[in-house]
Amino acid sequence: MNTRQQKYPVLSSILAAAVLAGCGGGTEAADTAATPAAAASPAYILADAMNDGVMNASNVLWESVLLEDIAADGTETYSGPTSDEGWNTLRDAMQSLLDVSTQLKQMPAGWQVRDPSLEYEVPPGELAPAAIVELVNSQSGVWSAFSDVLRGTAERALQATQTRDLNTLGEISNSLDAVCESCHMQFWYPPSAAQ
Ligand code: HEC
Repeated sequence: MNTRQQKYPVLSSILAAAVLAGCGGGTEAADTAATPAAAASPAYILADAMNDGVMNASNVLWESVLLEDIAADGTETYSGPTSDEGWNTLRDAMQSLLDVSTQLKQMPAGWQVRDPSLEYEVPPGELAPAAIVELVNSQSGVWSAFSDVLRGTAERALQATQTRDLNTLGEISNSLDAVCESCHMQFWYPPSAAQ
């Protein structure tokens, strides 16, 4: 009971750290994370989908399934949710990761990286929002493929919450980062932007 109550309040505080350590390319993500889209904003804002959808859902997994031990033979032991409520929270998060990754593949025409009416200074090493839109549109097959990988991962995680398969969830929790990173390297902070 206590453990459970303590776990979730720390989510928001680790968000910035997780972005920097695992899935981010700069401090801007933390700065803009709380900025709501303006009323006249485009139909789909990628940064919002990333922060409110992908990141939030992933944090639930990263926070609730933890590597506890690696045996001498390499066998990994994970701890997971300790109550039905915890499992439900994790299942809902993986469902929402599945939903948001499905949307990533079908972003409506006119989608934007961020609300163009809000001021935004592009951090060094990152592509500007307009350049990201252009790149995604010109490499839509690659974008779809990365979205599919995320979607497949979310689907596997969702199934694993249904059978409470901690080994699979642990493996996904440990490897999810690489899925984020590969797409970010391609479309957000490619080596070509680091000049
Ligand atoms: C299909 C490609 C793709 C995948 C997969 C992906 N991202 Fe992203 N993500 C992007 C792009 C492009 C940006 C840069 C544009 C932006 O700021 O939203 C981004 C930006 C972000 C941001 C910063 C949003 C902001 O405020 O600027 C966060 C946080 C983030 N991603 C988290 C994640 C996490 C966590 C995962 C994996 C669980 C993930 N992303 C997987 C494409 C992807």
